[in-house]
Amino acid sequence: MHKILLVDDEKNMLAMLERILKSDEVEILKAASGKEAIKLVKKEQPQLVVMDLQMPEMDGLTAFTEIKKITPKQLVIMMTGFGTTNTAIEAMKLGAYDYITKPFDPPKMQEIVANALKASELMNEVVVLDDVLEAKDVNLNVRAIIGMSTRMQEVYKKIGQISGSSIPVLLIGESGTGKELVARAVYHNSNRNNKPFLAINCAAIPDTLLEAELFGYEKGAFTGAVERKIGKFEQCNGGTIFLDEIGDMPMQTQAKILRVLQEHELERVGGSETIKVDVRIISATNKELKKQITDGKFREDLFYRLNVIQIDLPALREHKQDIPDLITYFLKRFNYEFGKNISEIPKKTLDQLIAYHWPGNVRELENIIKRAVVTTIGKTLKVDFTHVSLAATGKSIPIIEDTVVALPSVSSFEELLDSMTDAMLERMLTLPDDNLLRADLMGKLEKLLILKTLDKLKGNQVQTAKLLGITRNTLRSRIEHYGVQA
Ligand SMILES: Nc1ncnc2c1ncn2[C@@H]1O[C@H](COP(=O)(O)OP(=O)(O)OP(=O)(O)O)[C@@H](O)[C@H]1O
Ligand SMILES: [Mg+2]
Repeated sequence: MHKILLVDDEKNMLAMLERILKSDEVEILKAASGKEAIKLVKKEQPQLVVMDLQMPEMDGLTAFTEIKKITPKQLVIMMTGFGTTNTAIEAMKLGAYDYITKPFDPPKMQEIVANALKASELMNEVVVLDDVLEAKDVNLNVRAIIGMSTRMQEVYKKIGQISGSSIPVLLIGESGTGKELVARAVYHNSNRNNKPFLAINCAAIPDTLLEAELFGYEKGAFTGAVERKIGKFEQCNGGTIFLDEIGDMPMQTQAKILRVLQEHELERVGGSETIKVDVRIISATNKELKKQITDGKFREDLFYRLNVIQIDLPALREHKQDIPDLITYFLKRFNYEFGKNISEIPKKTLDQLIAYHWPGNVRELENIIKRAVVTTIGKTLKVDFTHVSLAATGKSIPIIEDTVVALPSVSSFEELLDSMTDAMLERMLTLPDDNLLRADLMGKLEKLLILKTLDKLKGNQVQTAKLLGITRNTLRSRIEHYGVQA
């Protein structure tokens, strides 16, 4: 449920706005003056404020400045009458989200409001890491990054290392691996988490417009530039910008970004005034930037500036052991969202989901579980595999008897092992039909397991034997056999 606060001294305007903005997901609050608005912002913490600039007593700009003092992250859309857009532009410089000129078309207002609510969600929805996730967090206002595999723990470690700082971060990973989610976690753990967070998808905006969007422009800078526009960097001053799909950014814009990073300054398109900005940049790409550099499509100097810390998001097929936890998490979320009570998943279904190679990564898994939750009747999850190109793996999926098992518990060691073994088996099926090679692999696996466990437990053999469920003597003989250095 979103709360929108409407502020206008004209009753008719408030009524009209309420009519066009109210929905099942939106609760409307109304204020007739700036003073009243300030009170309501404190008390109700709305996701969005839509406010008139001209009001008696306290004008909109003053009210806006006060509101920003209370909540620097507050998203505000300004409404201005004809001839007062200058004040609206002033408000944008101070961090207003957008403005609209009266009279406006309702669809235009609805569009701006929808965009603002999306931005508010990205900024305000807390993102927690799996290792600190609590049961009560599985609701609609908290997002979690799930997965306790080594690969995911490396991600958490990096997020932890840079928490409280403002250094640039580059996120690299295939589509659907959680780059946006991690960007938000980095932001929530930064020293700028009480300042705005704005996301820009560089691939979704045409090259010619991207620069204008990021840096703004002056009146007359190009055809159609009827008045000055404030860009995202200026608007987001003091905050964090998430530049998504940075590999798609044109060279010319890259040069300007480099300047922001090095000199903390910019000029609006068509302008000569130098503007100082202080913005943290988190960027993401699913492209091979190194290759882009070789191809002359990405500036090497910019790469090193953006890449002070690099976080690699693993493809889902590289951390299959997290699949059961992810499924459990999505089931809980969608049970909650769609009012269902699904508590079981057939073992065969689980095995199929683990065996699949997931080209669309976690997003694909999330979508499949969502669709399944919506269409399932009863308490056993029924997954429709017709949209999943399981055949694309090139292997048949082992059919295991279709018994129903309880949902895997998030921390069960056996289950983890079980899913890892399945993933391993799947890999082994791709190997040439050579028994020696396979036997060798089994040995390697045991050795690796012992090594890793010892390593984790700082060489403590008693604990290692206990964890692996073997006697200490067996462990000793294995260590000797494999020549493992304890
Ligand atoms: N480890 C994870 N735990 C829980 N949910 C995840 C995880 N990784 C991704 N998701 C979910 O999967 C979906 C896709 O994630 P996200 O948008 O962050 O991916 P992305 O890497 O930005 O993809 P793209 O490159 O296509 O933009 C989101 O709904 C996100 O919440
Ligand atoms: Mg993304």
